[in-house]
Amino acid sequence: MRILGIVGSMRKNKNSYLLIHTALESVKKMDSSIKTKIIQLADLNIESCRACYELCSKRPYECVIKDDLSMVFEEMKSADGILIASPLYFPMPSRLVALMERLACLSYSLGCEDPSFIHPLEDKPCGLIAVAGGDNVRPVLYHLQNFAHCLHMNVITLKSFPYIGVGGKGDVRKDKDLEPIKNAEILGTLLVKAARSKKSKDGNET
Ligand SMILES: Cc1cc2nc3c(=O)[nH]c(=O)nc-3n(C[C@H](O)[C@H](O)[C@H](O)COP(=O)(O)O)c2cc1C
Repeated sequence: MRILGIVGSMRKNKNSYLLIHTALESVKKMDSSIKTKIIQLADLNIESCRACYELCSKRPYECVIKDDLSMVFEEMKSADGILIASPLYFPMPSRLVALMERLACLSYSLGCEDPSFIHPLEDKPCGLIAVAGGDNVRPVLYHLQNFAHCLHMNVITLKSFPYIGVGGKGDVRKDKDLEPIKNAEILGTLLVKAARSKKSKDGNET
């Protein structure tokens, strides 16, 4: 099993990263054989969608722009579960928005309208994380949730606020209100449970 974490922040190894890292540590604690990987978008080149529909309208999920998006998409397809973290940047980091618009655009492309078409990320468990200077993390989580649903992923919800995912305020290691560290650990374990259940439903080994 493989779990992928995508860090949307332009600051490497900060709050968004810490929560992805924490969730993946709890994944490893659950089962040390699970492979984990973190992609930090700050390291990558991802251009904005040109809305040209040149290639994606002919071949689903193919894009005229040749940059790091295709690598991220391959990693997303081969993972059994995905975590995405983003800070609030009024509203979100533009590189993550570029990734979201490019992948969403591909999902609108020809062939995907056919009801028998199976989306490459169909039912893939996806855990969401949002951080901010204040406690207004919900707008970020809504955007991430829309993105995940657009790609037909299965968003893992939590039993505590903000429910759609993990929220963190300020320095996430010190946040006693939203308890992001504890919730990131819970999210990691729920993601693995959902990935296992999907695998057994699909008839694959756990
Ligand atoms: C361009 C920009 C805009 C931001 N806008 C807000 C905002 O509107 N509200 C807020 O609470 N925090 C805002 N922040 C603060 C970040 O969300 C916060 O510092 C977050 O923890 C950064 O995540 P990171 O540590 O993963 O980089 C903003 C930060 C930046 C760089």
